[in-house]
Amino acid sequence: MENLEEKIVQADTLEALEKVRVELFGKKGVLSAQFAKMKDIPGPEKKAFAEGLNSQKSQLQSIFDERLTILKNAEMERQLKAEAIDVSLYTGSGEKGALHPVAQTMDKIIDYFVALNFSVESGTLVEDDFHNFEALNLPKHHPARDMQDTFYFADGGLLRTHTSPAQIRTMLKEKPPIRMIAPGAVFRRDYDLTHTPMFHQVEGLVVLEKGEVSFANLKSILTDFLHHMFGDVEIRFRPSFFPFTEPSAEVDISCIFCKSEGCRVCSHTGWLEVLGSGVVDPNVFKAVGYENVSGYAFGLGVERFAMLMHEIPDLRSLFEGDIRLLEQFR
Ligand code: PHE
Repeated sequence: MENLEEKIVQADTLEALEKVRVELFGKKGVLSAQFAKMKDIPGPEKKAFAEGLNSQKSQLQSIFDERLTILKNAEMERQLKAEAIDVSLYTGSGEKGALHPVAQTMDKIIDYFVALNFSVESGTLVEDDFHNFEALNLPKHHPARDMQDTFYFADGGLLRTHTSPAQIRTMLKEKPPIRMIAPGAVFRRDYDLTHTPMFHQVEGLVVLEKGEVSFANLKSILTDFLHHMFGDVEIRFRPSFFPFTEPSAEVDISCIFCKSEGCRVCSHTGWLEVLGSGVVDPNVFKAVGYENVSGYAFGLGVERFAMLMHEIPDLRSLFEGDIRLLEQFR
């Protein structure tokens, strides 16, 4: 018995202890052999013999269990030590990620307007007919709806085709004065060198008391903004049409690739179109119940800005996640 206890206590690995277990408690083990002797014990002494054996067995078992716990803990300790990660270890090989060029461009745009005290609104990606079209002076029969090929849901909902519905949501939720931008994703059924089904826009809207804001304000802020984004470029406002602004203008910058000489990117015009803008159409104010106000609005494509700022020739490459492109923006 002493000898058996010692065997348990001296096992110094889990494997050694397992061997001892088989030797003591196994089918052909020491204890089984003892129990086998029962049949040769005379009747009157059987009970005492069995009791003695059982208490011996349970004593050994508890010594064994204690040893097992100790060895298991030691093993765990050893494993934790072996697999420990030294988070303070400096290897000098860490590679830093970077913001995606579209996110970088978006941030630069947002920073400009936030500095001018514009609020940042998000609107919603899943829109309805009212916010995306109707309230923006595009009634159901209006041919201008064909300008945008729309992803519709079966229930009549749709993926917003521009950030302009954020104008409507903000005006319905707040009172003038309003100075807001709304950056975010928009969706159109388009896919080629310069179009992807999802891209990003930044919308801008300023609404003040009637007479407090004019086309001149629009012109001056957008001129300053475009210099902030593109540096020393020439800027021109070209009459255009949007159902939700009147008058409307598209804004061009002088081609930064050919310095206005004429090249493939600017279709040999020397100009690049970068913005849509205009004075808010009275019908838009009517749709949101605003009276005695005036305002201006503008909208731009963030990917287009990123392409021009970084001379990226194919818009689609911004969405391919190619590390060779992304690495250049670290
Ligand atoms: N929503 C227009 C577009 O997607 C851009 C725009 C916004 C034009 C605001 C004028 C005023 O093309």
